[in-house]
Amino acid sequence: MNVLFCVFSGTGNTARVADMLASSLQNMGHHTDMYRIKKDAPMPEIGGHDAIVFGYPVHAFNAPTAMLSFLKKLPAGNAPVYLMRTSGEALRLNDASGITPRRILTKKGYTVRGEYGYVMPYNIIFRHSDEMAARMKRAAELRTARDAEEIASGKGARKRVNVFKRMVAFTLRIEHTAMPFLGKRFRAGDACVGCGLCAKLCPQNNITIVDGKPKFGKSCVGCMACAFGCPKDALKISVLNGWRVNGAYDFGGTPATDEQVCSYCHKAYLRYFHEAER
Ligand SMILES: Cc1cc2nc3c(=O)[nH]c(=O)nc-3n(C[C@H](O)[C@H](O)[C@H](O)COP(=O)(O)O)c2cc1C
Repeated sequence: MNVLFCVFSGTGNTARVADMLASSLQNMGHHTDMYRIKKDAPMPEIGGHDAIVFGYPVHAFNAPTAMLSFLKKLPAGNAPVYLMRTSGEALRLNDASGITPRRILTKKGYTVRGEYGYVMPYNIIFRHSDEMAARMKRAAELRTARDAEEIASGKGARKRVNVFKRMVAFTLRIEHTAMPFLGKRFRAGDACVGCGLCAKLCPQNNITIVDGKPKFGKSCVGCMACAFGCPKDALKISVLNGWRVNGAYDFGGTPATDEQVCSYCHKAYLRYFHEAER
């Protein structure tokens, strides 16, 4: 089986989990191709693949606009496709993020066969502990191993999304309109040394370095690659600044025990971890 992965990832979580899923498929003798979605990058070669996996981070209970724009540009096809997403919460409300990608893909002739959700540490709102990050990584490893078997066997299940979840996701789609405006107002503070890393990390090519400081354009999708990856934590992200999370997580430590699982959405995280570890 030849599987193409098309992945949008702002701060690396989705890319990390996509790599896990791809490795599991490779261990079973399958071939995988990995394509990272970036603005203005040439489209991948779709032909010759037996299945396609589309990966994205959940943004305000929806798929990010970068993912949706990519799907809209995709040629028509009939390969079975799978959606995989990462999210900071283990809430089932995140299942609503598959609605629009499914609609676009179905219109183009693809069959959405399965959807997989993985919890990874927040890159905005608040910082998870490294213990939580390590447990999320362990859970993702266990889940991707099982999900790869399902993909290889041609099976899969779609997420059911009730009217309430649809309404919440629809309302919060305002984020898609708001982010280009907010992103235009991102600024570098005094700590900025003009290293230009933010411009390199931005998958939207939205940052240019002018007079040694980043200047933000109108194409921000709010992925947080810039603010999360800044080595000096120098970026101010407009009205979202109080939610800024900076710096890579250490996934290699000791996973959180049940007691250490964070109190926010505690039950949902426990359910997710226990399902993975059973
Ligand atoms: C603008 C924005 C909105 C987000 N909204 C949600 C959300 O609605 N639900 C959730 O569980 N996580 C949300 N997150 C957290 C990310 O989905 C999560 O950290 C993800 O793993 C990041 O993946 P990446 O590193 O591949 O970009 C949001 C993150 C950002 C930047």
